Amino acid sequence: MPKTRTVHRCRECGAAAPRWLGRCPECGEWGSLVEEATGPSPSSGAVLRAGAERPVPVREIDPVATLRRSTGIDELDRVLDGGLVPGSVTLLGGEPGMGKSTLLLQALAAMCDRGARALLVTAEESKEQVRLRASRLGTTPDDLFVLAETSLPDVLAHVDALDPHVVAIDSIQTVVDPDVGGVAGSVAQVRECAARLVRMAKERDVVTLLVGHVTKDGSLAGPRVLEHAVDTVLAFDGDRHHALRLVHALKHRFGSTGELGLFEMTERGLVGVDDPSALFLADRRPGAPGSVVTAVLEGARPLLVEVQALVAPAANSTMPRRTVQGLDPGRVSLVIAVLQQRVRRGSLGTCDVWASVAGGVRVREAAADLAAALALASARAGAPVAADIVAVGEVGLGGEVRQAAHTARRLAEAARLGFRRAIAPTTAPNVDGMEVVRVADVGEALLAVGLGRDRTRPVPPRDDDAGEPAMVPTRGTARVLRAVGPATGDTRHRW
Ligand code: TYD
Ligand code: MG
Repeated sequence: MPKTRTVHRCRECGAAAPRWLGRCPECGEWGSLVEEATGPSPSSGAVLRAGAERPVPVREIDPVATLRRSTGIDELDRVLDGGLVPGSVTLLGGEPGMGKSTLLLQALAAMCDRGARALLVTAEESKEQVRLRASRLGTTPDDLFVLAETSLPDVLAHVDALDPHVVAIDSIQTVVDPDVGGVAGSVAQVRECAARLVRMAKERDVVTLLVGHVTKDGSLAGPRVLEHAVDTVLAFDGDRHHALRLVHALKHRFGSTGELGLFEMTERGLVGVDDPSALFLADRRPGAPGSVVTAVLEGARPLLVEVQALVAPAANSTMPRRTVQGLDPGRVSLVIAVLQQRVRRGSLGTCDVWASVAGGVRVREAAADLAAALALASARAGAPVAADIVAVGEVGLGGEVRQAAHTARRLAEAARLGFRRAIAPTTAPNVDGMEVVRVADVGEALLAVGLGRDRTRPVPPRDDDAGEPAMVPTRGTARVLRAVGPATGDTRHRW
């Protein structure tokens, strides 16, 4: 007789403990552990069920079985590495008002246009609201069915009856399983409903999409097990005051997670952004101090973004402010320290500093360091960096400028958008239509964009100095950057 083992499982986080504990060792919740049978122990000499799966040589597995189905929306396909896989469950998380329901409806309609039958379970909005949105989006396909229902068993019964190719639940926090205690959205409910939907997806081989809300700190509401249970987690974000929306995969069992999908929220729904670099630079004000463009890589796609900085005397000099948006705060503080210690921009230490990326994108790459350094120095000097300059490179603790992956691809994108000079690491390749200024450290980079020289560590003049842009003195202490062109004689000024 096989022995049945029991574990104690936390109702909140799903962690297992071999014996009962008053407090979950994983999530710290009190009184959440309940006993659970785990079936026969592994040492019990299990017997194979009739019809059970058997191991097969990898060569003999049909790869067609996981063929992706296009969502009909290019930017979404890009994030999904091709599309959605039948039998997979995809969680789309985002703050309220981001456009999750809109994207879902657009994707379902596009899939219906390609021959799918889809069921949209609206557990949050009424049928009429969905219809209004569909009219607004100008799409009411015959094979898109809407069910306003919150009870999960009813939903599953309708899935059985309708036999759709795609099922979407909006949202996982508003459906309930009456067999499970707790209100809709509670950890136990979300966990159980998600588990039943995952089972349904696998058994019926249907593409399943779940909308999930996020909490204030940006993480998905509900238990961690929700993220573990699904195959793909997509995060949908953007700035509420901007029309730009970004979608990226936090987890994807069927492909890479590196790609970024970009949409613009318009009067008629979400529209894919064809030329994101141009969009990010659209509001740029050339000639403003503290603005430097860099090229970041989002997956395979290079994106040009504007790094902005503002430097002002500290309101509280014992604790200057450091406000960073869209950049990694750790990298910005490194760049500030390098500017202070390696190229003697010491006064930054007593200034309030703001650094951001325009347009609402989040740059996680160290390749934006050099642009941040130049933007900060430019803001500090009150002198602009010429508008046709792009800067790419990581900054090291020694002030050295390091190589960024795929520099050629980044610079080619900049050249396409009309940038004519690149400040880049010494290893940077030549790029058509662009003058590549190779710099070994931040000091050289500052020099190359005309942000003067270090007073305490003068750099000897070079033979090719004549071709560099320079700063010319103006009244008082203010200086302006002279436009691109050779320096003339002694008017060159040091910062
Ligand atoms: P919605 O998809 O309801 O967001 P979520 O499901 O993430 O809460 O849409 C959010 C906003 O988008 C809403 O304020 C209205 C706006 N919107 C448009 O600007 N254009 C459109 O075509 C649609 C359908 C919505
Ligand atoms: Mg919604």
